[in-house]
Amino acid sequence: MSWRVPLVDLQAERAVLGDAIDAAVARVLRSGRYVLGPEVLRFEAELARCVGAAEAVGVGSGTEALWLALRALDVGPGDEVIVPALTFFATVEAVLAVGATPVFVDVEPGGCHMDPGCVERAITSRTRVLLPVHLFGRCADVRALSVLAERSGLVILEDAAQALGAARAGQRAGAWGRAGCFSFHPSKPLGAAGDAGAVTTSDPELVERLRRLRVHGQLDGLHVDVGTTSRIDEIQAAVLHVKLPYLKAWTEARARNARVYAEELGGCAGVQLPPAPQDESFSWSQFAIRCGNPKPVERALEAAGIEWRRYYRRPVAAEPAVGAGQRSADAFPEAVRACRQTLCIPVRGSCGNSTVREIAAVIRGALD
Ligand SMILES: Cc1ncc(COP(=O)(O)O)c(C=O)c1O
Repeated sequence: MSWRVPLVDLQAERAVLGDAIDAAVARVLRSGRYVLGPEVLRFEAELARCVGAAEAVGVGSGTEALWLALRALDVGPGDEVIVPALTFFATVEAVLAVGATPVFVDVEPGGCHMDPGCVERAITSRTRVLLPVHLFGRCADVRALSVLAERSGLVILEDAAQALGAARAGQRAGAWGRAGCFSFHPSKPLGAAGDAGAVTTSDPELVERLRRLRVHGQLDGLHVDVGTTSRIDEIQAAVLHVKLPYLKAWTEARARNARVYAEELGGCAGVQLPPAPQDESFSWSQFAIRCGNPKPVERALEAAGIEWRRYYRRPVAAEPAVGAGQRSADAFPEAVRACRQTLCIPVRGSCGNSTVREIAAVIRGALD
């Protein structure tokens, strides 16, 4: 289906930055240096600065960032990793891929991030890592999770795939935990022209291990680890270098649209908007609303040509590939409710003020 108002509009971005991106790509092609060259080094330094971490290690995708970070932390068989029941499959896939056991916890009542109370109850002697997901561009309750992690000697690994630019309690996503994992999939707040990802960390040992793992575990000509090929390539790093300086302005534009939604839908019974706490900033990678009865809203948006998506149809614990022995979706009532009620609607900066007001009017109309 082709939408009159799509959720993601990469052509709008191209209209502004197309020439600069084409020039950057041509520069790399002319250089003949395509892997682990100066573009990657520069982008890694810029990303680390942007996140507030000492280092960034560019890898092939957000999924590989998670997998490599778990490998670098020596997480494997016999270890438990606490993950939210509501997330994209990749979070759990990475845990399963290293042979560790994902332990699912429900999300906060009415919210979509791991509930620290549930996390506390799920910690066992085998727990190694808390893996919060900053879903929809809002940080999970990292402060409460940090207290738990410290008390129990656990590592926090942030899935910040959707949250570049988000912050909570004065610290940015990707700088709270031992490491943060980012995706630069084209639909993300900072999107490459293909797949790319990165791990941010201020732990020098982890940096060294990650840099090794992404090149087959090589150190001084020896293969000291079983790694893989997972590198952000020079072309993607060059594209991301062009786009990174715009991240702040694009995030602010989405935040302005979010404020318009708040004005237009704030008093509307039947719609719950994302919260707006004082000590947080969101990346607004998505604008996720909750409706007690989403069906009429979905139908009205569709009729108006406005794209909407329900990204997560069921708690990730209930995905067939997670395997037998996991608890059924019923064990995560808040995640089930969130899956049923949450819709993402356009918030991107190229969506003008009047379009946002129009979308809000369609939603109000559907609920009248
Ligand atoms: C929460 C979350 N984690 C991990 C990923 C994986 O990122 P990638 O698609 O770059 O592998 C995504 C991508 O959508 C995501 O949303």
